[in-house]
Amino acid sequence: MRRVITYGTFDLLHYGHIHLLRRASEIGDYLIVGLSSDSFNEIKGKKSYFSYEHRLLLLKSIVFVNEVIPENSWDQKKKDIIHHKIDALVMGDDWKGKFDSLQEVCEVIYLPRTPEISTTQIKMDLQREGYGVT
Ligand code: CTP
Repeated sequence: MRRVITYGTFDLLHYGHIHLLRRASEIGDYLIVGLSSDSFNEIKGKKSYFSYEHRLLLLKSIVFVNEVIPENSWDQKKKDIIHHKIDALVMGDDWKGKFDSLQEVCEVIYLPRTPEISTTQIKMDLQREGYGVT
């Protein structure tokens, strides 16, 4: 049983997230997502539209995701990897090189991001183009 973990905010869940989660799940047999808490998002300088509970509800409904745990700090990854007996950490390549030091505890894999979509892009487009507001 190969166990995989990934981390992120996953706000306004979009197809880029789904592609990432599908590919991460295909690397192993069991996928855990470390979901950034609202307070950790503040530390990261992000403000999510959906609360942690609502982002959790969405992630748990995805067939590729077996388990969701909270991500509360930058430095919990090593502990999580050991505690959850993780074989591979998978991240989008916007993080390329950032987690290489964790290669001492598991395989570290960076996957190419899906082009032209991000939560930030959605927020900007909605603001600029006035979707849904008449
Ligand atoms: N991701 C991806 N392709 C995208 C967007 C995100 O593969 N087009 C991946 C990221 O690389 C990360 C995970 O999905 O591994 C969660 O990313 P997150 O930062 O929550 O999503 P973004 O859409 O990038 O959000 P933001 O614009 O707020 O940074």
